[in-house]
Amino acid sequence: MSVYPIIMAQETFTHRDHLTYPYEERGLQFGDGVYEVIRIYHGEYYLLNEHVDRLYRSAEAVKIKITSTKEELTNLLIELLARNDMTTDGKLYLQITRGSAPRDHVFPVDVPANIYAYISDAPRNTTNLENGVSVITKRDVRWEYCYIKSLNLLPNVLAKQEAKEQGSYEAILHKDGMVTECSSSNVYLVKDGKIYTHPATYQILHGCVRMRIEQFAKDLSIPFHEEGFSIEDIPLADELFLSSSTSEIIPIVHVDSQQIANGKPGNVTRQLQEAYVEDAAIKERSMKH
Ligand code: PDD
Repeated sequence: MSVYPIIMAQETFTHRDHLTYPYEERGLQFGDGVYEVIRIYHGEYYLLNEHVDRLYRSAEAVKIKITSTKEELTNLLIELLARNDMTTDGKLYLQITRGSAPRDHVFPVDVPANIYAYISDAPRNTTNLENGVSVITKRDVRWEYCYIKSLNLLPNVLAKQEAKEQGSYEAILHKDGMVTECSSSNVYLVKDGKIYTHPATYQILHGCVRMRIEQFAKDLSIPFHEEGFSIEDIPLADELFLSSSTSEIIPIVHVDSQQIANGKPGNVTRQLQEAYVEDAAIKERSMKH
C-alpha cells in the first residue's frame, strides 16, 4: 500500500485505520472544503511555504477557519514525514472541510473544521518528462473561482477521464476558445522564444510550479507573458508544456492527435525542466540518501 500509515488528523497524529468520519461531513456532502497536493523529493517537501500560503488563501476565500497558524501547520506537516520515516519521492494530500454536522446548506455554528493529511509514494514519471505527452481539448465548464483549490472537482474529473479514454494524459480547457489551464495542471505555449500563459486571474489555479516557472524564465532571460492564447494558436505553437506539483514540467507533443512542431520536446521546455531539477535539488537530495 502506498499510503504511509501515520496520518495527520485534527492537528495530531493517528494510524490510517483509526481515521473515521461520519456520513454527515461537509466535504463529502457538499464538496465544502479546500485541499493541497505537495511534492516530496527524497523525503523533503518542495515549495512547502507556497502551498501552505495558498491553502490559507483558499480557506479564507470560502470562509473556513484554520485554527493552527501557518507555522504550526508547517511543523505538523514536517513531523508527518518524520513519523513515517519518509525518504522517497512522493506527495502529500491535505484537505480541510467545514466539518461534520447535520446536512444543511447553511454553515454549521461552532463546528471545527476537519483537517487531515497523508503521504504516499509518487515516483517521477521520467518517460513523460523525457518524451512528452498527448492531450485533448475540452470546453472549460467550471465555476468562476478556479483560483480557489476547492474540493469541487467534478468538471476536472470528467475532463481528465475523457483524456484518459482517448489515450491522452491531460485535457486543455478553454473558455470561448481562450485556453485557461488543464484539468489538473497549468499550460503554456511557446512561440518565437517567448512563453505565453493565461494570467493569474480568478479563472485559473495559481500554480506553485507556475510561479517558479516565471522565475526560471526570468533567470534564463526567456520572455514570460501572462497573456492568454487561443485554441487556434495551438497548431502554430513552437512548443507547448504543462506544469503541476505531481507532473513537474511535461512537454506536450500532440493536441487532439495533431502533432506540435516536429513532435519532439522543445528547447525552451528543456531549459525549464533543467531549472526545475536544480531548484528542487533533486540530484543533491538523492545523494543524501
Ligand atoms: N493539481 N491547475 C489545476 C486545476 C490543478 O489542479 C493544479 C494542481 C495545478 C498546478 O498547481 P501546482 O503547480 O501548485 O501543483 C493547476 C494537483 C497536483 C492535484 O489536484 O492533484
